[in-house]
Amino acid sequence: MVKFDFENYKAQDVRMEEIIAYSNNIDRAKEAFLKENKMNDWYDIDKCIAPEEVKDINMTADYIRSNCDVFVVLGIGGSYMGAKGVIDALTPYFKTENPEIIFAGNSLSSEFIQQLIDYISTKEVIINVISKSGSTLETILMFNLIYRALKNRYDDAEIQRRVIITTDRDEGTLLEIAKRIGCKRYVFPENIGGRFSTLTAVGFLPMAVAGISINSMLEGARAAKENSRPYYTYTALRDILYKKGKNVEIFNVYEPKLESFTNWIKQIFAETQGKNNKGILPISTVNTRDLHTLGQFLQEGTKMFFETSIEIEKTVDVKIDRYDKYLDSINSIALHSVAQAHNEKNNGVTNIIQLDALNDYNMGYLIFFFQMAATLGAYLLGVDYSNQPGVDDYKDLIRERLEK
Ligand code: PA5
Repeated sequence: MVKFDFENYKAQDVRMEEIIAYSNNIDRAKEAFLKENKMNDWYDIDKCIAPEEVKDINMTADYIRSNCDVFVVLGIGGSYMGAKGVIDALTPYFKTENPEIIFAGNSLSSEFIQQLIDYISTKEVIINVISKSGSTLETILMFNLIYRALKNRYDDAEIQRRVIITTDRDEGTLLEIAKRIGCKRYVFPENIGGRFSTLTAVGFLPMAVAGISINSMLEGARAAKENSRPYYTYTALRDILYKKGKNVEIFNVYEPKLESFTNWIKQIFAETQGKNNKGILPISTVNTRDLHTLGQFLQEGTKMFFETSIEIEKTVDVKIDRYDKYLDSINSIALHSVAQAHNEKNNGVTNIIQLDALNDYNMGYLIFFFQMAATLGAYLLGVDYSNQPGVDDYKDLIRERLEK
C-alpha cells in the first residue's frame, strides 16, 4: 500500500484550495496527453505487455536462472535504470542466489569492461542487450567487446542461447545483429519511450531473473492509475512551488536500497521536463548518510528547493533495546525530524510518500505514479514530454568527433 502526506510539512504560503483549484489545469494537461497519442502506450497498461509475453518472459527468466552464473544486462538511460532501481530495491544487500546480475553498457569505462570480461571468463554467462534505437554508443561498444569474448568460448548454437536482444521490432543495428545471430528477441514497444519502458519487456526480463513478480508490479501500476488524486495533488504542488521559485526537488530516501531507484526518478523528471530552459532540477539524497553531507545546506543554505521523501514503514524487525524501539521506527523518526526542522526553521516543504513495505506491488505503483507526475507536469510547463533533444545533442557531437 502507498500513502501520501502533502499536508504535514507543506509550504506556509500554499493553501489546499489552491491545489484543488489546479485540478482543471491538470485535467486539461491529461486530455492533451491522451489526445496527442505520442509515445503514450504506457498509460494503457494492457499495451505495456500482453499476458502471453509475461508468460514468455517468466519462462526465459527460469531458463536464465538455470543456465548461467552471471546475467549481464547491457543498456543505458531508460534501457536499464528502472530495472536496476527495482532489482536493487527488492533483492538482498548480500546476495547468495544465482545468477549474479550485472548492469553494463552504461559508461565508457575501460577498467569496468576489461575487469568484467576477466571476471566472467570462468563463469557461465547469458547477456541481454537493450536499446530502442539499436545504436547507442555505450551499449553497442560494450556489447561488441563482450560478444567477442563470448565468441571465443561458445560455438554459434550456444551463442544463440546466450544472447537475448531487446530492441525495435522493425529497424536498427541491433535488430540486424539479432537476426544474424538468430537469438531470442524481445520487442521494445514502438509507442513507448526509453524512460517509460520499465513496465515492459525492457525492464521485466531482468526483474523476472531477479525473482520479481511482473503481475504484482502491474497490479501496483493499475492501482496508481486508478487512484488519480495523489498524482494530481503532487503535480499541482510541483508546478505551484516551481512558480514560486523552487527550482530544485530533492528526493530523499532513508533506505539505501532505493538509491538506484532515485536515479530512475531523477531521469524521469529531468528528461521529461528539463527543456526550453524550464523545469525543476531533480537531485537525491540517501539518508541518514547525506544528512552529514548536504544536511547543513538543506537546513540553512539557499532556499531554492523542496523535498519529497520516501518512507518505508516496515522492513525487518531489529530491536534497539536502549530506546525500546525497532530500527525502522528510529529511521522514520529521523525522516520526520528532518522534515519538521526544514519546515519550521526554513519554511521548507517535504512531501512524504509512505510505503507499507518494499515490495513488487509498491514499486509498480511508484513507477506509474512518477511517470504520470512527470508527464502531466511537462504539459503544464508547455514542453514536449516525450523527447530528450539535449541528450541527442551530445550523442551527435560524440559521433562527429569519432568519425573525424
Ligand atoms: O528515455 C530515453 O529515451 C533515453 O534515456 C534512452 O533510454 C537512452 O538514451 C538509451 O537509448 P536507447 O534505448 O536507444 O539505447
